[in-house]
Amino acid sequence: MPILYDEKSNTLTIVTDHTSYQMQVDAKGYLLHLYYGTRSAGCMDYLLTYADRGGSANPPAALGDRTYSLDALPQEFPFQGAGDCRSPLLRVRDASGAFGCDLRFSSFRIRDGKYSLPGLPAAYDEEGDGAQTLSVILQDPRLGLEVELLYGVLPRLDVICRSAIVRNEGKGALLVDKLESACLDFVHGELDLICFYGRHAMERIPSRQRVEPGSRLIGSRRGISSHQYNPLLVLADRMTDERAGRCWSLQLVYSGAFKAEVERDQYDQIRAQMGLGEEAFSYPLDPGESIVAPEVIMSFSAEGLARLSQQLHEVIRTRVCRGYWRDRERPVLLNSWEAFYMDFTGEDIVGMARQAADLGIDLLVLDDGWFSDRNDDTKALGDWWVNEEKLGCDLGELIRRVNDLGVSFGIWMEPEMVSEKSELFRAHPDWALAIPGKHPVLGRDQLVLDLSRTEVVDALFEQICSLLDQGNIEYLKWDYNRSIIDVYSHGARDQGAVPYRYMLGLYGLLERVIARYPTLLIEGCAGGGGRFDAGMLYYTPQIWCSDNTDAVDRLTIQYGSSFGYPSSAVGAHVSACPNHMNGRVTPLATRACVAMAGTFGYELDPKRLSKKELDTIRGQVQDFRKLSHLVREGRYWRLGDPQRDAVVGWEYVSADGDEALVCAVVLRVEANEGMRYLVPCGLTPGATYVERASGRYYPADALMDMGMPLSGARSLYDSVQVHLLRCDGVADIKEGTRR
Ligand code: GLA
Repeated sequence: MPILYDEKSNTLTIVTDHTSYQMQVDAKGYLLHLYYGTRSAGCMDYLLTYADRGGSANPPAALGDRTYSLDALPQEFPFQGAGDCRSPLLRVRDASGAFGCDLRFSSFRIRDGKYSLPGLPAAYDEEGDGAQTLSVILQDPRLGLEVELLYGVLPRLDVICRSAIVRNEGKGALLVDKLESACLDFVHGELDLICFYGRHAMERIPSRQRVEPGSRLIGSRRGISSHQYNPLLVLADRMTDERAGRCWSLQLVYSGAFKAEVERDQYDQIRAQMGLGEEAFSYPLDPGESIVAPEVIMSFSAEGLARLSQQLHEVIRTRVCRGYWRDRERPVLLNSWEAFYMDFTGEDIVGMARQAADLGIDLLVLDDGWFSDRNDDTKALGDWWVNEEKLGCDLGELIRRVNDLGVSFGIWMEPEMVSEKSELFRAHPDWALAIPGKHPVLGRDQLVLDLSRTEVVDALFEQICSLLDQGNIEYLKWDYNRSIIDVYSHGARDQGAVPYRYMLGLYGLLERVIARYPTLLIEGCAGGGGRFDAGMLYYTPQIWCSDNTDAVDRLTIQYGSSFGYPSSAVGAHVSACPNHMNGRVTPLATRACVAMAGTFGYELDPKRLSKKELDTIRGQVQDFRKLSHLVREGRYWRLGDPQRDAVVGWEYVSADGDEALVCAVVLRVEANEGMRYLVPCGLTPGATYVERASGRYYPADALMDMGMPLSGARSLYDSVQVHLLRCDGVADIKEGTRR
């Protein structure tokens, strides 16, 4: 049983295959956090210490005992009002406007299966997972406030999920001013914080810094999880590296504004927390109402960062992503954006499909520019009717022509948006988020539709269906290209609740689309990777990782993304050179090597390529078919850091250890330099591997110790892809087959 209650010590313990998590209801009725780390039996309340904390605050329940202060004790759900002056998870006001509550333990319940959350994405369990849910009720009788803490454990995955439901069970109105989902309190330790920051076209750059006294905040005030900070935190002992050491992660399953904070307090204790964005948030709760905090997925590894990431990859890939495409080979696609931008005709698109067929590509994606008078990005969003003049036929006809070539058809849409220059806006100006009397802030010349309103969501659903019903559309790129700044919803009781309700509207809409089109592959996108989070992955099993398609920049972007997200989620394409964003020229082989660390596809005009390049692409597509299962499901290892190393590598190893793909790109060169070596990980000790292309044998242990020389990669931006098959000393490789 992964969740245990011990009556004697009043502790609740959650156990996974390799970790333990423990909390205790103390004698005063407060819920204290005791431990999260390596699996351990017994009671960890010896970690609690008490000294005179008269200088801090002592709650009335301390009955004059100055050694009892919540300002010093580790907690499960710290709240504002009982003397913990560190950053709380919950801050509530009563009808008089007074802040403060006092939440004490009331009851708990353990049940089989993992909880789900009404209206919000959350990891799920499957039969055989042995998942359980712990719910702990905290109450403040004065306010009639009740908080249900939810803990869902997936034991084999070494993952514990958390959420909280705040309810008004009283008689007066309440206002929730702050609601975070989870925190981790550490009573001591020198920790580093690793977070993932960036900007449009350069997302998720890792930054590792010591946790210093004070607070470090990351988050988004943009209405989306954002390009700027990803909702993923890793804490690690200072000596922890890829292969060794303790590390913890908090990952939010939510795609809107969020806040994460890591605070080192007066006693050098550390609190990490994550949840809803606090700014511009105030959520009214009338008697009988409640609000659900988005889920945080927590994980712990005592074996370094690689292991932690592998745990996160597994939970995201197999217990957050869902549906038809979860475990299926994804189509190799050719996208029209970098080929034509908005300047194309129907013949161009059919011509592109012809090239796709010739190259062995599965799917053609018609990106932006196909609707209304959308020939630049200043207008027409919301008017999702096909520009038949531009395409030379209706959409059904175009799709048929593409399908007749043996190629599937996909289309781009940005459903949540409206341009001021559009018929939709002229008809329904109040459907856009804009504050009456204030000129709205524009982003890419567009406004955001008010998805907190049911009628807007209903209308959007109709629009999406009427597009998808025009033909055999097998893929939808769901884009989102600005942030939410002006928040005002017509008819809303409290504007401070609108951003959260927007997310509920969006998730509800996605759920309806998925239910109606279960085999449609939806790729998420927000100006590339501006909404690359576990919340969206619940609906869209892959997300366009970045608008930056330069192979070298992508190494950093994909490296950072790999800390929390599996390659199966990473939309990655080969584009033309010089790269349209940074002008860099890289070999076609390297561009493919990097794009193969994701869902793989092309985003260029094949007509502009030479015969030799087209032949190369044909080979790449065939190669990817032999490798895609490894990329999608293999255990992922980072071999080097693009911000630090001259050669950066990465590797996938199949679950049975029979196969591995080792990749590397040269990022820096010097004249007359020595040979470089790449050291793979995770192979089966004692086994022998043979390289598919060369037939060369490698003993696994030596490979994992001294590595392999990178003889084939000597020049700047050269790359290697080594496909290893386990042969146990028997030469039995056949082209493209597994042993
Ligand atoms: C965003 C996307 C791009 C492309 C354009 C179209 O920037 O990230 O991939 O679809 O919009 O306008």
